Amino acid sequence: MAGAENKSNAKLIFPDGKETILPVVVGTEDEHGVDIRSLRQETGYITLDTGYMNTGATQSAITYLDGEKGILRYRGYEIEELAEKSDFVEVSYLLINGKLPTTKERGVFGQALTRHSLIHEDMHQFFAGYPPTSHPMAVLSSMVTSMSAYYPDSLDRNSAVDLHITRILSKVRTIAAFAYKKSIGQPLMYPKNSLKYAANFLHMMFAVPSEDYEVSPILEKALNQLLILHADHEQNCSTSTVRMVGSSGANLYASIAAGILALWGPLHGGANQAVIEMLEEIKTAGGDYKKFIDDVKNKRDNRRLMGFGHRVYKNFDPRAKILKKMCDEVLAQIGVRDPLLDVAKGMEEIALKDDYFISKKLYPNVDFYSGIIYRALGIPTNMFTVMFALGRLPGWIAHWKEMVDDPQTKIGRPRQIYTGAPVRKFVPIDQR
Ligand code: ACO
Repeated sequence: MAGAENKSNAKLIFPDGKETILPVVVGTEDEHGVDIRSLRQETGYITLDTGYMNTGATQSAITYLDGEKGILRYRGYEIEELAEKSDFVEVSYLLINGKLPTTKERGVFGQALTRHSLIHEDMHQFFAGYPPTSHPMAVLSSMVTSMSAYYPDSLDRNSAVDLHITRILSKVRTIAAFAYKKSIGQPLMYPKNSLKYAANFLHMMFAVPSEDYEVSPILEKALNQLLILHADHEQNCSTSTVRMVGSSGANLYASIAAGILALWGPLHGGANQAVIEMLEEIKTAGGDYKKFIDDVKNKRDNRRLMGFGHRVYKNFDPRAKILKKMCDEVLAQIGVRDPLLDVAKGMEEIALKDDYFISKKLYPNVDFYSGIIYRALGIPTNMFTVMFALGRLPGWIAHWKEMVDDPQTKIGRPRQIYTGAPVRKFVPIDQR
């Protein structure tokens, strides 16, 4: 990875008049950062940045996004172009290896994913151990952690990383589908080598042994596009978690499992489920979404318009734009009419004209319309965040690999400003 250039410096002046010079680093797209790596050593000061709103944790060559302009690129390729012209396996290769594959490379990569799709038969018993009410994210995260028990060579940092990458990319798809089958009491459907990545997932989700199942090319294309749109998003909460856990030397499976858990939260990947729950709640209560928006604006019960707002996008989320269009197209192609789509569109229309949302720069994010497409594909609401995890896998893997390969990587260990009690003497319990 070529590092950012150091072209100029910044001067920091402290309350006692002391000064320090800090290098300014500039990235490929002219984004500027002050390199504070020597700050504490030279001055004793640290920086305080709750929520890492201004902190670059790494230099990365994987994904570029500009929140003001609504730009998202993987390895330099525009998200719009990838969603239209590529498929998820090719995008995974691109993210992980840094370049688009040749026909031969694409074939080898795809074949490896096909060959590694089965999970160890003993792992099937795990599914039986979970109560039927288990959230599939709980099952997925623990199954991914368990993979490190089945592939103990992953604990050795010099083991075949590419093989682990192939395994995890392929088997998470199988685990996700098996978790769903188990939750509805249907027999597990083994993967079929004749099917491509997305089609194979749909087969494992929706086929049953008693009848033939033909994968719809419309659903296959929609799934590929959804997975591509979720494939990476630079240093978000779950990806930073993968990097943080991986920086301790934890193996790939453990690092990815940690990312899955970080993704689960409703402020992150869990928002796609929360959006549908919100839309359903509004519809059940009579469909008065204007009242719901008023409640949000008045912060009643700390309500938020789920699927709106983003830490980085302050203009529009390019993924949401693609998804809104896709939502109309997919629903029309498969002949589904979803009343929740009308509620969502009505809410978006009001919010985009409302001063509360405009002044806070709140726009639909990737989760606002994705749930409606997942519903149309037949995927149940509690599986939405699992779908997000499946899509985000190549991004997490690419970041884990970049972090491991970077000689500048150090264990992630932020500092703090202590605000607790000053030193005090221990008081024996009978004197308190
Ligand atoms: N609805 C209503 N108000 C909101 C929303 C929302 N969705 N999002 C932010 N705000 C308001 C906050 O109340 C706050 O108002 P205040 O200044 O009056 O206190 C202001 O906007 C800033 O909000 P923060 O939470 O400080 O913004 P932050 O950048 O930390 O949060 C986040 C971003 C978490 C995505 C937020 O917008 C949110 O909670 N959205 C809803 C959940 C969601 O859709 N998450 C998915 C994000 S995309 C992803 O992770 C895949």
